[in-house]
Amino acid sequence: MDNLSEYHLCEDPISSWESWFKTAKEKEVNAEAFTLSTIDSNGDPQGRLLLYKGMHEGKFTIYTNLESPKAVQLAESKKASMTFFWPSALRQIRILGDVEVMEPERAEAYFKKRERGSQIASFISRQSQPIEDRETLLQRFSETEKEYEGQEIPYPKERWGGFYIVPKKWEFFHYREFRLNDRFVYDQKNEKGWNIFRIQP
Ligand SMILES: Cc1cc2nc3c(=O)[nH]c(=O)nc-3n(C[C@H](O)[C@H](O)[C@H](O)COP(=O)(O)O)c2cc1C
Repeated sequence: MDNLSEYHLCEDPISSWESWFKTAKEKEVNAEAFTLSTIDSNGDPQGRLLLYKGMHEGKFTIYTNLESPKAVQLAESKKASMTFFWPSALRQIRILGDVEVMEPERAEAYFKKRERGSQIASFISRQSQPIEDRETLLQRFSETEKEYEGQEIPYPKERWGGFYIVPKKWEFFHYREFRLNDRFVYDQKNEKGWNIFRIQP
C-alpha cells in the first residue's frame, strides 16, 4: 500500500485513528463531534451529532438517553455508522460498526463523574419527546436540584447509558488539490489482519 507513511496510516486502523484524532484535537474546538447514522424500523436513515467518549478495548464509546430514537435504533438494528470531519486538516473518517450495549456499571461510573448540572439534565430529560416550553424544562431542573440538595443525583439506569460501536470497516479520507483525494479503506479483519486498499476520489 502506498503513501502509508505520508498520512501516518498504520497496518492497524485504531492506531491510524489515534494519530489522526490526536492531530485533530490540537486544532479543532470539537474534534470529538461526529455524525452517528442509524436506520429506523422503516429502513429510513437517521443522522445526528454525538460526542465520542473514548475507546474501550478497540470499541468506540458513546453515551445517550436509552429511550431516545437513536438508542432504540441502535438496540434494534445493532448497526451504526460514525463520520468524523476535521475541517482544519480536511480529513474525514467513516466507520461502519456493530453495536453493543454498555455494561450499566460502567455507564454509571461515567455518569457519576459528570458535572452535577449535566447529571440533572440527563435525569429529567425524556430525550426527543415533545415539551410545552423551555420554562417547563427549567422548572423540572430546579425542582430536581432542590429535591436532591446535599445528595447524589440517582443514576437513571433505565433511561441513560452507553453503547459501544465495534468497528468493522473504516475509510480514511484526506482532501487534496483538484479533489484528487486520498482515500484508504480498511475492510473486514481476517486472520491475516486488515484488508487495506486505496479507493478513487
Ligand atoms: C456537538 C453535539 C454533540 C452532541 N452530543 C450528544 C451525545 O453525546 N449524546 C446524545 O445523546 N446527544 C448528543 N447531542 C444531541 C444529538 O445530536 C440529538 O439531538 C439527540 O441525541 C437526540 O437524537 P435522537 O432523537 O436521534 O435520539 C449532541 C449534539 C451536538 C450538536
